[in-house]
Amino acid sequence: MDDQKREEFRKALREVKNLPTLPGIVIKLTQMAEDPDTSTEQMGRMISKDHILAVKLLKLVNSAFYGFPQRISSLNSAIILLGINVIKSLIISASIFEVMEDQDIELWEHSLGCAVVSSVLAKRLGMSEPEEVSTAGLIHDIGKVAIKMELPREYELITRLVHDKQISRIEAEREVLGLDHAEVGGWLAKSWNLPGKLIEPIACHHDPRLAKDEQLASAIVHFSNIIIRGMGYGHAGDIWVPALSSRAWRMLELTPTDLELVLAEVEEKLWEVKGFSLDIKANNEEAVPL
Ligand SMILES: [Fe+2]
Ligand SMILES: [Fe+2]
Repeated sequence: MDDQKREEFRKALREVKNLPTLPGIVIKLTQMAEDPDTSTEQMGRMISKDHILAVKLLKLVNSAFYGFPQRISSLNSAIILLGINVIKSLIISASIFEVMEDQDIELWEHSLGCAVVSSVLAKRLGMSEPEEVSTAGLIHDIGKVAIKMELPREYELITRLVHDKQISRIEAEREVLGLDHAEVGGWLAKSWNLPGKLIEPIACHHDPRLAKDEQLASAIVHFSNIIIRGMGYGHAGDIWVPALSSRAWRMLELTPTDLELVLAEVEEKLWEVKGFSLDIKANNEEAVPL
């Protein structure tokens, strides 16, 4: 592939015009969180101004991914219980996922599944904010959506190549574009100013050795992607289960018994999230308690 062509693709994907920009509310919340005088109520009020987003946020918080023992019925308690960083990443998920759900239902299912496995593993490994790892799992393949929306012709070509040559999607992407969806996802996450905790696991989910600061979270998302593909839940664009990085596997320190328990928990949770959607048309009129 010539360099000029690759540069063109790179530019189109870096300038993503068809994906939503990150809601301004995330930037405002970041500013508010930095100001010690801001109260939880003020933040709750800020979020509730966007009624649809607020309903989605509560729906996501109470979904089976996060598995909080009690129902969280107000924005204030969500902020107190989860912390502003988690709330921010949930807002990001809610905004991005609308597009993913509309674009590709099977990829959406694959991503939901990956989020579930990531959440189970992050909790088992005692990570301090497992919800963030789960969010990274939820949006790890966002680069695929960007390629589909920005370069539809090349996307078709990639799909054909996967089928004709029987190669993985990531190999086909590299062949057609000279880059892959993990790299694209990393740029996107960076351009949306997402926290580093989300950027690295997205950018490194096919090669967790590349991670510097978020090695464990990257290993979790890497492994979750493999597990969920192995379980055949959703569809990620090809039929191949990616190779497991031995380093990531060592980092997770899972015994065969641990793995069995993880799989059992994942299966139960997958059942609970089946058909989960952030679509709120049905309860659009619902009031959002602060
Ligand atoms: Fe991927
Ligand atoms: Fe994936």
